[in-house]
Order: sequence, then structure tokens, then C-alpha cells
Amino acid sequence: MSVNDRPTGQPPSATYDSAFLRACRREPVPHTPVWFMRQAGRSLPEYRKVREGVPMLESCMRPELVTEITLQPVRRHGVDAAIYFSDIVVPLKAIGIDLDIKPGVGPVVEQPVRTRADLARLRDLTPEDVSYVTEAIGLLTRELGATPLIGFAGAPFTLASYLVEGGPSRTYENAKAMMYGDPELWADLLDRLAEITSVFLQVQIEAGASAVQLFDSWAGALAPADYRRSVLPASAKVFDAVAGYGVPRIHFGVGTGELLGLMGEAGADVVGVDWRVRLDDAVRRVGPGKALQGNLDPTVLFAGPDAVRAKAREVLDSAAGLEGHVFNLGHGVMPSTDPDALTRLVEYVHEQTA
Ligand code: CP3
Repeated sequence: MSVNDRPTGQPPSATYDSAFLRACRREPVPHTPVWFMRQAGRSLPEYRKVREGVPMLESCMRPELVTEITLQPVRRHGVDAAIYFSDIVVPLKAIGIDLDIKPGVGPVVEQPVRTRADLARLRDLTPEDVSYVTEAIGLLTRELGATPLIGFAGAPFTLASYLVEGGPSRTYENAKAMMYGDPELWADLLDRLAEITSVFLQVQIEAGASAVQLFDSWAGALAPADYRRSVLPASAKVFDAVAGYGVPRIHFGVGTGELLGLMGEAGADVVGVDWRVRLDDAVRRVGPGKALQGNLDPTVLFAGPDAVRAKAREVLDSAAGLEGHVFNLGHGVMPSTDPDALTRLVEYVHEQTA
């Protein structure tokens, strides 16, 4: 089944005709749909309040808390889609990897994966390992009604970057050393991560997610030839594993201007673009048949209402000739963003495109 087929043999879901899913399928829309990566989180006072005293990873395992946090930006900003509140390292934690998310730092892995023996610690993920995800999505889809829920996972390269480095990195020297120096181990690691990621996305779709996004946030560190040889096959395997569900698949990375064509080839229905490439240029790089998502620079939100409107207008102008545009930032909402600036931006995009 492709994303353009209405599901048969079952009633169409309440979200099927939403502006967001229509844009992903490149169908006409009542207005350009808007959502923001990291729309749930520290920019919202109501988020900081419910997270008080609860460590990040623990909050991801409490279905009622996940439901509340996921709904907060939908209530406040009127965005066209919710994104499931979790983190890319949750499936790794679920298979027993000793890791934590350190405030202000990010994911930290106790014993980095550097050898073939380390690889054996990455066992299969089963739906039972993440039963709290199934439960939370059940609660969420009932609350969301006609608003679609986006499920997500980290792409094999971005997950590998944390696993091999042991934490956040600017250079990815250990991960790239494995990629260049032991291509067989690297390929096996990425393939293992592709299997884990595929199951994690399947669980979310089967529980009721209407779309999925693969975050390959750090893929922009790679040259196109290395991406093609050493990363694309694993991401393509993930997109393939969820193709049969007919839900839109979004592929996102930062600094990936030179990789957009290859990211299109990996198989997604929608390709995310950051602010470095105009959308009318990005569409030529990505190739035909795909919708685009993006691409306002998240720092524009610090520049005051007039500047935000002017820069948002530029994004809409660069998207004017596209079939299928989902308005988003080029990367996640920064924690110190004024939430009112986000609410005004949603209103502006809706009003300009209605
Ligand atoms: O609203 C949403 O978008 C859903 C929530 C979401 C989180 N992480 C929650 C979170 C999503 C989609 C992610 C994905 C994620 N996690 C990515 C890919 C997206 C991107 O930004 O490129 C990456 C690279 C990670 C790894 C990670 N987790 C980082 C770099 C951090 C930040 C560390 C910090 O404190 O600055 C995290 C922690 C994290 N994930 C937070 C949230 C809300 C902050 C922790 C907190 O609120 O206490």
C-alpha cells in the first residue's frame, strides 16, 4: 500500500483528511500544516512543571505523563500534528544498554560500542520491551481525535554516533574511525540498529501513530559517497520495514544540503530540510514525488514578531511551487524560545495559506 491509497477493509482513521497527512501525501490542503520538532519540552512552563523531579528517561516510560506532555503544545499552539514524547535513545535503554540522558548534555552511554563483542549487547527489541509506548499511544490517539500523532525514531547513523562515541560529539571521530577502519563491523552495527529502529516504529504505528519521522540529525557530518556506501542502506531498510503500513514516512537531518538527493533515494515520502537550503532548491535536489518539511531557522524566533513574520513569509514563498509542504523549523525548538512566538507563528502560517 502506498501513502496515496485510502486504507481499505477498515474505516478511514479520523486523522486521514487532516491538513498534515494531506500535505504528506501531496494532496491539496485547506492551509499549510505546521508542527515543530521539539514542540514538547523545555520552552513550555507547563512542561517544566510536570517534569519537576522526574528524570528524562523515566518520564518517557510513564504513559500518563507522556500523554500530558505530548498534548501540551497541541493545546497551546494549535499545531497540526502532535509528536510522541520520547527520545531517540529509548529503544536502546529498552534492550538493556546502560545509558542516561544528562541534563544539558544529552545521551551518555556507560560502555561505548567499539568492538564486535560490544555488538553482541545489542539484542532484538520486542514490543513487550516498550509496552509503555503502546499504552501511551492508545491514550493519546483517543485524546487527539482528528489531530495526527507522529511517531519517531533515531536513524541508525545518529544512534550509532551516541553508542560508539559514548555521548554527544562534535567530530564523531570514534564512529567515523569504525566506519572507515572496520567497514564490516560498522555495517553490522548499522544493520542491527536498523532492525531495532524498525520494530520501534512498527510498535508506534500499530498502536495508532499516523506518520513516522526518522531523525538522522547528525548525518550532515558525512560526505555523500560515505553516506551512500555506509549509512543509506541501513536507513533504507528502516523505511522499507514500515512501507506496508501506508503511513507517511519523514526523513530528517541537519546540514544535509549535499545529501538531500540520497536521502530521497533512501525511500521516505517527506524529506526534512534545514534553513541552509531554500525549499525551491531542495525540491530539485530531493527529486520528484516527495513532499518537503521545513525550514525556518529556529533562532529567528528570538528576533521579534516582525522578523519572524518576514522570515516565515520567505519560507512560504520558497514553498509556493511545491506539491506538499509541511511547515516546520529547520531543527528543534530551542529551550529558551518564547512559547508565544511559536503560537503566533502557527497563526501566521495558517492565516497566510488559508
Ligand atoms: O517534541 C518533540 O519533538 C518530541 C520529543 C523529542 C525529544 N527528543 C525529547 C527530549 C524528540 C523528537 C527527541 C529526539 C532526539 N533526541 C534527537 C533528534 C532530534 C534533534 O534534535 O536532532 C536527538 C539528537 C536526541 C538526543 C538528545 N536527547 C539530546 C541532544 C538531548 C538534549 C540534552 C539537553 O539537555 O540539552 C536530549 C534530551 C531530551 N530529549 C530533552 C527532551 C525534551 C531534554 C531533557 C529534559 O527536558 O530534561
